[in-house]
Amino acid sequence: MEASSCRLKGRFALLMIVFLMLCGATRAQLTVDFYKSSCPNLLRIVRREVVKAIKSEMRTAASLLRLHFHDCFVNGCDGSVLLDGSDGEQFALPNINSLRRLEVIDSIKSAVENSCSGVVSCADILTLAARDSVLLSGGPTWKVLLGRRDGLVANKTGADKGLPAPFENIDGILKKFTDVGLDLTDVVALSGAHTIGFARCAMFNNRLFNFSGSGSPDPTMESRMVSDLQALCPLTDDGNKTTVLDRNSTDLFDNHYYKNLLNQKGLLESDQILFSSAAAQSSTKSLVEDYSSNTTRFFEDFVRAMIKMGNISPLTGSNGEIRKNCRVVNS
Ligand code: HEM
Ligand SMILES: *[C@@H]1O[C@H](CO)[C@@H](O)[C@H](O)[C@H]1NC(C)=O
Ligand SMILES: *[C@@H]1O[C@H](CO)[C@@H](O)[C@H](O)[C@H]1NC(C)=O
Ligand SMILES: *[C@@H]1O[C@H](CO)[C@@H](O)[C@H](O)[C@H]1NC(C)=O
Ligand SMILES: *[C@@H]1O[C@H](CO)[C@@H](O)[C@H](O)[C@H]1NC(C)=O
Ligand SMILES: *[C@@H]1O[C@H](CO)[C@@H](O)[C@H](O)[C@H]1NC(C)=O
Repeated sequence: MEASSCRLKGRFALLMIVFLMLCGATRAQLTVDFYKSSCPNLLRIVRREVVKAIKSEMRTAASLLRLHFHDCFVNGCDGSVLLDGSDGEQFALPNINSLRRLEVIDSIKSAVENSCSGVVSCADILTLAARDSVLLSGGPTWKVLLGRRDGLVANKTGADKGLPAPFENIDGILKKFTDVGLDLTDVVALSGAHTIGFARCAMFNNRLFNFSGSGSPDPTMESRMVSDLQALCPLTDDGNKTTVLDRNSTDLFDNHYYKNLLNQKGLLESDQILFSSAAAQSSTKSLVEDYSSNTTRFFEDFVRAMIKMGNISPLTGSNGEIRKNCRVVNS
């Protein structure tokens, strides 16, 4: 839009070029060196704080990665998930009693504020923390595009509608990804994030006893895993106990998530269907196989997908604000 309105102003080729250059200079977009002069130590500070947090609890890496995902899928990567309040996103169904370690983002933010006050957004801090979490778990790394600004509103209904549930089929999940500009490869690659972290019984106990009213467990879950999980998650329980998403190597960011799927050891229904469902046979199954045998391929596609996810509808230029406190909008 900016480019076309500028174009109208230019009558001569030279003028047009000048205007397009001006447009390019003022059109806000994410860049790797956005804080190079305004906060030169930003990357070091975030890394140091993430290292500290992971040392005290390894699961923090998983929790920070998921926070970034849940931020980006709702009103874009704008830090909206961090906003407190009973009508905030934290109280949406996919997030309640589930999101964790927001206090780590608060610690990073205050460390950053001590060094360069009022210039770095919470949305960018979360994006960097997610990247560092993957790297520090043994995964790939990449250059993070920066310059996001923080949103002024949380969107609880947006979170309820836009975040995928573990009980959805591939089409339902894919729709939520395509709604934010991601594709089927991104679904499979980003699901590989479940190579770290935990899930509550309530997120998969539908598979354990009477799956889809069949009277039996989900036939696509390996039988030893079924009995282990039946013992952990009896139906009389409140569903709040947790277990690891990747039973092979919980804390390590590797391609075992996909190897597990080949062995019917995916924890969530939304994981295992990428390999075992009828719909997967002509779509996601071959990608799962590729990733399970080729870590390089998984890491490449994961990085590409993370950068795409980090680019979902950022606020730039003078939109939004640089929040002082990640939990509340500036007064
Ligand atoms: C494809 C659709 C997805 C579904 C249905 C899904 C669902 C879930 C569910 C139900 C949990 C457990 C939550 C709980 O028990 O409270 C979980 C955990 C997790 N998810 Fe996903 N997820 C999806 C995609 C993603 C993506 C794209 C990422 C990041 C790139 C991600 C990263 C994680 C991580 C790291 C955890 C563990 C968090 C922790 O231990 O604190 N997930 N996911
Ligand atoms: C909340 O998200 C929905 C998409 O689910 C969107 O249509 C709506 O405009 C958003 N509301 C606000 C206040 O951002
Ligand atoms: C399983 O669920 C179905 C439908 O909800 C129900 O009719 C059936 O009685 C249940 N079977 C068992 C063994 O609980
Ligand atoms: C799970 O624990 C949370 C507190 O962490 C509690 O509010 C919730 O009611 C529990 N869920 C169930 C089903 O009891
Ligand atoms: C993980 O998988 C590898 C083979 O891929 C196997 O050698 C190892 O024993 C497994 N570890 C666990 C804890 O299951
Ligand atoms: C693994 O994937 C990489 C990157 O896509 C590719 O270059 C390489 O040939 C693959 N390796 C094998 C053994 O297929």
